[in-house]
Amino acid sequence: MMNRRPTIELKAAESSVVRDSIERAKQAEREGRWADACSLYEQLVRNPDAHASTRLAVLRWLGRAYMEQGNRGAALDVLEAAVASADIIGSPPAVAQALNVVGIVYQTSGDLDQAAAIYEAARDKAESAGDGALIAMLDQNLGTVAMIRGDLRAALEAFRLSHLGYQALGMRNHEAQVLNNIGLAYMELGNLADAEAAYADAGRAFEEEGDHARQLDLSVNKIQLYIAGRRYDDAESHCRELLAYHADEMPSWRGEVFRHMGVISRERAQFVEASDYLNKADLHASQTGDLLLKADVAEQLAELFWAQKRHREMLLSLNEAHALYSQVKAQHRVAQIERRNDALESRFLEMASQWGDSIESKDRYTQGHCERVAFFACVLADSAGFTARSLFWFRIGALLHDIGKIIVPTEVLNKPGKLTEEEWAIMKRHPEAGLELVADIDFPGDIRAIIRNHHERWDGTGYPDRLAGEAIPLAARILCVADVYDALTTTRSYRPGLTHARAAEIMRSSPGQFDPQLLETFLEWAETADIPGRPTPQRMAIFASGAAS
Ligand SMILES: [Fe+2]
Repeated sequence: MMNRRPTIELKAAESSVVRDSIERAKQAEREGRWADACSLYEQLVRNPDAHASTRLAVLRWLGRAYMEQGNRGAALDVLEAAVASADIIGSPPAVAQALNVVGIVYQTSGDLDQAAAIYEAARDKAESAGDGALIAMLDQNLGTVAMIRGDLRAALEAFRLSHLGYQALGMRNHEAQVLNNIGLAYMELGNLADAEAAYADAGRAFEEEGDHARQLDLSVNKIQLYIAGRRYDDAESHCRELLAYHADEMPSWRGEVFRHMGVISRERAQFVEASDYLNKADLHASQTGDLLLKADVAEQLAELFWAQKRHREMLLSLNEAHALYSQVKAQHRVAQIERRNDALESRFLEMASQWGDSIESKDRYTQGHCERVAFFACVLADSAGFTARSLFWFRIGALLHDIGKIIVPTEVLNKPGKLTEEEWAIMKRHPEAGLELVADIDFPGDIRAIIRNHHERWDGTGYPDRLAGEAIPLAARILCVADVYDALTTTRSYRPGLTHARAAEIMRSSPGQFDPQLLETFLEWAETADIPGRPTPQRMAIFASGAAS
């Protein structure tokens, strides 16, 4: 998304020394040498030969350079000074421009409420000064904040205002950038036709302006649009055009185009090509240090493995994507990561749930078992004080608790009668087999404990480790209660589901099996809960959203 930053015309009267320093600082910025840019700007601020209005602009640039270095405190200090100086010289446009950069600092660090409040204050100043270009820029930035928040209607409204402003002023290049943002907002709304129209308008304006670099960025957005509309031939021809262009260089979008090619191939069931392209994208991301792209690629690889039923590798990739998103978030660079990560977590849960169920659903009577067990277990984990964050992992673990059952033959899983000793021996291996499946995935400890120890008993006679009492990890003790309750209350091939009262009676009369305190907490809740055998969709939603917060 394009965020507008203020530009300023330098006083023609500036000495060549001052102009030269500014040029060197800008060059350092373009090359990403932020420390050099900062020291040049610091010298300029103290240079008595520079005009007051130039020094004011330099303060803003210095603030932005500190921000790029990750030094938010220094950035805000300098920008506060810029706002105060602009106020002293009585220049509302300069106040508005300085406030705009303050807004960008808050936006970049994810403080969206503060960013929006500051952009609005800046717009008031710009309005009182009658500065149309500034107003349009601030509308655009307000639109960007709304977009990051996911308030797409508000974003579109703000972008349209901005577009009208730039149009009236005849600022074609700025217009095109807003049109690109309008296209992105329509894309997110799923309104592909309007997105395409906005991109087409943006493309014409960039072409008129001869802005080739932005035209290429726009092409990458169009590819995404074609993929969303399943127009894979259009998407592919755009990708090929971009890849042929500047083949020897490494423009920032090259990795993204490889990723798109990977997605197109995957959707066409060309799995080998898909894997090749996604690996190329991953390599590009590693070479350029683009963590966000790396996360994106890992997410798409997970989908590729999912399509090929390579579940273990799918989990590896999902977990990698999740870790990378957290890392990007920690860098305070991309506020919209929050929403992307939420989407990934939902998909993570969906895949874990479907995989977990596909193992169980060899028996049609156990359909939905994993989802229900995860739900019950989350209720109990929530009351035991698990945080929303840890509940996400807990839920993943609960969904996957029986993945080890893939080693158990279908006829044994579905056998209505008693298992033979040999069959029972295979069945009892499922916790360890499950753990082996996730052995090389860097999952939080609870998941391992759930998979390995959900068949331990409070009295120490369970399997596989014969742990007793509180030596059994809490997550596994919780899962055990949820697992047995669901098994008893759902209909099986050999008996109908039991009522709550009967299930509670059976569980209470098996004192050696469960953590007594957890059992009572759960049964008390289940007795009055609105679950005629299974959770309501509303309750499921509460936990799905809790997990993502
Ligand atoms: Fe199990």
